[in-house]
Amino acid sequence: MRVSSGVPGFDELVDGGLPTDRLYVVSGPPGSGKTTFCSQFAAQGARNGDDVLYISMHETKAGIREDMAGYEFGFDRALDTDRVTFLDSFSAEGRRFFGLPGERRDRSGVTNRLTGFINSRDIDRVVFDSTMLLRFLLDDDEDTMIQLLSSLKRCSATTLLISEMTDPSAYAEEHYLAHGVVFMHNYLEDEGMRRGVQVLKMRGTDIDTDIKDLEFTDEGLAVGSAATVVR
Ligand SMILES: Nc1ncnc2c1ncn2[C@@H]1O[C@H](COP(=O)(O)OP(=O)(O)OP(=O)(O)O)[C@@H](O)[C@H]1O
Ligand SMILES: [Mg+2]
Repeated sequence: MRVSSGVPGFDELVDGGLPTDRLYVVSGPPGSGKTTFCSQFAAQGARNGDDVLYISMHETKAGIREDMAGYEFGFDRALDTDRVTFLDSFSAEGRRFFGLPGERRDRSGVTNRLTGFINSRDIDRVVFDSTMLLRFLLDDDEDTMIQLLSSLKRCSATTLLISEMTDPSAYAEEHYLAHGVVFMHNYLEDEGMRRGVQVLKMRGTDIDTDIKDLEFTDEGLAVGSAATVVR
């Protein structure tokens, strides 16, 4: 089974949609559209009647709502339904999940709490924004990180994990562990900055790995010819 990403034009790059219940990594430089892409995925889920867990390690619910309010894909409406559970790492509930930075207590419990939550609530789609602050909260404990990623892979939810790639010359564990990797590009060309999206890998799927044009439209991000249609 496949689910729609909610990003016009993207599903065609991955043979019709994202295979369900798998782990995907979304990477790219600052401002390249990672959070917007994932918010569209979450809103699409809510529209389909999926239960969605949206975890932000660095933004509050009000902050994301404000950032996405200008778009028509309805993330603000989705946030108001019971379909979407929002967890930010600095709220009381978020701290219960992730602990405080530097706190040595029970780090490995993060995996159990998170996968327990996803499984017990039958969550269908998960967005995790992002690994940079997760690594910080986990004190760079790679064992816990790998344990968490492996458990997320086994959950029966389709998960988008944002990874900033703080070292652009080196892939991180999550790029290898994930079933798929999507890159958002923001690069300089003769006529100025251009945005693009590229599916680097998607196991079991015949993909188009070229960099496709990506645009911000009123309906959020749109890929290639879909961008001109919704503009
Ligand atoms: N209509 C628009 N509404 C809001 N932001 C827009 C719009 N068009 C372009 N943008 C740009 O989108 C960028 C934000 O995209 P987004 O937050 O999805 O990126 P990101 O990859 O998650 O960035 P970060 O690494 O900082 O988290 C901003 O730099 C903003 O200027
Ligand atoms: Mg972001």
